[in-house]
Amino acid sequence: MKLREIVKQLPCENSLSVQARPYYNHSVSFNQTISPQERADMLDRVGLNVFFFPSDMITGCDMLSDSGVTTMTDDQWAALHQGDEAYGSNRGYFLLRERVLEVFGEAFFNHPEAGNPNAFLFHQGRACENALFVHLGRTGEGMVIPSNGHFDTTHANIIANRIRPVNLFSPALTVDRSDEVFKGNMDVSELKKLMDKYHDQVPLVYLTITNNTGGGQPVSMKNIEEVAELVHDYNIPLFFDACRFAENAWFIKHYEKGYNKERIETIVQKMFSKVDGFTISFKKDGLVNMGGGMFFKNNGYFVKKYPQMPEAILDHQILTEGHPTYGGLSGRDIMALYVGLNTIVREEYLTYRIRQVQDFGENMDRNGLPVLKPVGGHAVYLDVNRFYHGTEMKPEEFGGIGLCAVLLAAYGHRACELGYFTFGQYDQKKKKEIFPRVNFVRFAVPRLRYEKQDLDAVVLSLASLYEHKEQIPGVEVIYGRDLALRHFKARFRFK
Ligand code: F0G
Repeated sequence: MKLREIVKQLPCENSLSVQARPYYNHSVSFNQTISPQERADMLDRVGLNVFFFPSDMITGCDMLSDSGVTTMTDDQWAALHQGDEAYGSNRGYFLLRERVLEVFGEAFFNHPEAGNPNAFLFHQGRACENALFVHLGRTGEGMVIPSNGHFDTTHANIIANRIRPVNLFSPALTVDRSDEVFKGNMDVSELKKLMDKYHDQVPLVYLTITNNTGGGQPVSMKNIEEVAELVHDYNIPLFFDACRFAENAWFIKHYEKGYNKERIETIVQKMFSKVDGFTISFKKDGLVNMGGGMFFKNNGYFVKKYPQMPEAILDHQILTEGHPTYGGLSGRDIMALYVGLNTIVREEYLTYRIRQVQDFGENMDRNGLPVLKPVGGHAVYLDVNRFYHGTEMKPEEFGGIGLCAVLLAAYGHRACELGYFTFGQYDQKKKKEIFPRVNFVRFAVPRLRYEKQDLDAVVLSLASLYEHKEQIPGVEVIYGRDLALRHFKARFRFK
């Protein structure tokens, strides 16, 4: 019998459990040895704000964010050496341009010779958002920007420019255990109502793929198409917040009817053919530690509606970031990004990446932990209200903040609250908190960094805390309750 035939009969191709990662460690970094008491003392010193906890003291998994914490590939490290640090027109800029055209489509990056700028490199995502909303804010009063879920910096940048952000989450998002996969979708019927009433005040509509604020859930192609059709009927541009575009495309391929045989690259091109521009933080699906960009589609609704905008953004970029051919990036950053955009759409990378996150979430579920299901693309979201169910924890005692502090001190894993504190607000007049709809602690999984054993350790630590949840007290806010972006700055203490 031929060996090929024997192999054919074995279940060796599609099961995660019998497969090694599609990569191996190229170099490793050792953690320090730090005791729970030392971590507890440090957390007390930083007012229980995990953002201020020195990462050097983390002995477990750092799941504060999946942003900028990617372990780069050896190809990327090699490319760094080829960074061309010229002030004008570095080599990487032209390579990156080719790659952007291949990945996102021909209409998104004009050659600088054309004198028709539509691609702008910034140092990270929020710098793009800032530029966009500063200039949109100058075009009128009383504007509204709807989204399927604005990220916190996007939300803050919109507000800072006197525009009103509106989140139209899918109703499936808050339905426990609904088997709808595309919980990141925009609620189209709510969008219709909003458009009927306010379309004159809507400069553009945003779709965040995947929907980070909405549980890291993906958006379906059908939803992208429906939203595009609706807003274009009003001549209003549609933008992506495209940070996790490749992960979103993977979900479309594997869960949306009709896409299973398509290549990821084809799906990405189709998604981007529906929008008129996008902002992106390359710190996620660019596989780099720093980088962002804003891209307008040639002849799209955006440049037609705002013909002055490319020039305004170009000036903004020159004033605040750098010459347009490097923007906010060094030549080596650009090279690493160019290579990262090759890897990010690789099928085997994406499959392993998302299956790893799913396995992490399912493991939490098996251990009785209340997680948002199905699990999204880059993180597992633990439902704080359900976690504390049956205890005395009150909403204004911010159980998510306390949980993150205890988890970090006791077990050395760092996660972050994305819930009542982060998205809530203190009403000065009524002297009370206004709570958002969602209350999560997010466990973001950095790309190419952890192994199953690491993630299993997080699950076991959390399961132990769940068993002892009565022992986690509520917190009080001792500084920053009424500040904007308060979660980055506030200080707490246990009651
Ligand atoms: N949009 C989304 C959907 C994001 O998730 C982020 C960042 C940004 C915009 C801003 O990009 O950090 O490069 O300025 N998200 C990180 C996170 C910080 O942890 O989710 P940036």
